[in-house]
Amino acid sequence: MQIAIDGPASSGKSTISKKIANMRGLLYLDTGAMYRVVTLAALQHKIDPSDEESVKQLLSQIKIHFETSDNGQLVFLNGENVTDTIRGNQVTNNVSAIAAQKLVREEMVKRQRDIAANHSIIMDGRDIGTVVLPDADLKVFLIATAEERANRRFKENQLRGIETDYRQLLEEIKHRDYLDSTRKESPLKKADDAIELDSTPLTIDQVVDTIVKWIDESNN
Ligand code: DC
Repeated sequence: MQIAIDGPASSGKSTISKKIANMRGLLYLDTGAMYRVVTLAALQHKIDPSDEESVKQLLSQIKIHFETSDNGQLVFLNGENVTDTIRGNQVTNNVSAIAAQKLVREEMVKRQRDIAANHSIIMDGRDIGTVVLPDADLKVFLIATAEERANRRFKENQLRGIETDYRQLLEEIKHRDYLDSTRKESPLKKADDAIELDSTPLTIDQVVDTIVKWIDESNN
């Protein structure tokens, strides 16, 4: 069983995919985390994220692995736990430049397919239904308005005690949407056979229930 969940930044893909993975005993793969790890490695090596030649050299030295813990999924770069670091502003602001590179994408897609070959899996990202798993059993394109996504991020930050500016969050989300959907290599795009789901008026549980129903239907 292969499930592809694609959509723009902060549309709730990872929260929803994790819940569905638990409910249906699937492996969850956060492909955005992989691009974030490559970005962090470039920054650690003082490589300009848009310097394609240097990033290319670095790729073969980057080992990424995931572990499950009581605090959720942990992400490792060459054995170092980078779960929190890859969510920081520095990585977030540079990841689009890394994710736009053809060679980086080829390498990540290869690694993602290798993992999918041995597991029943739910993967979230931007190109899962279009490129990584074109034969997935179910493809969902999860959207929400930019304002709703900024609002969710704002509330999440408030809960974590992080002070943020709603306007700035909204601008960042719009900017990332623009970069992700206009890049040349595998831009964010709904696969022809994906089902679009607008989560703007829905709760997390409503989105999860809808997708689980589709999974069960696709199994029959
Ligand atoms: O989902 P996220 O915010 O963690 O993704 C980080 C970046 O990686 C984002 O700019 C889009 C990019 N990405 C991608 O190009 N392809 C994927 N399959 C997943 C993420």
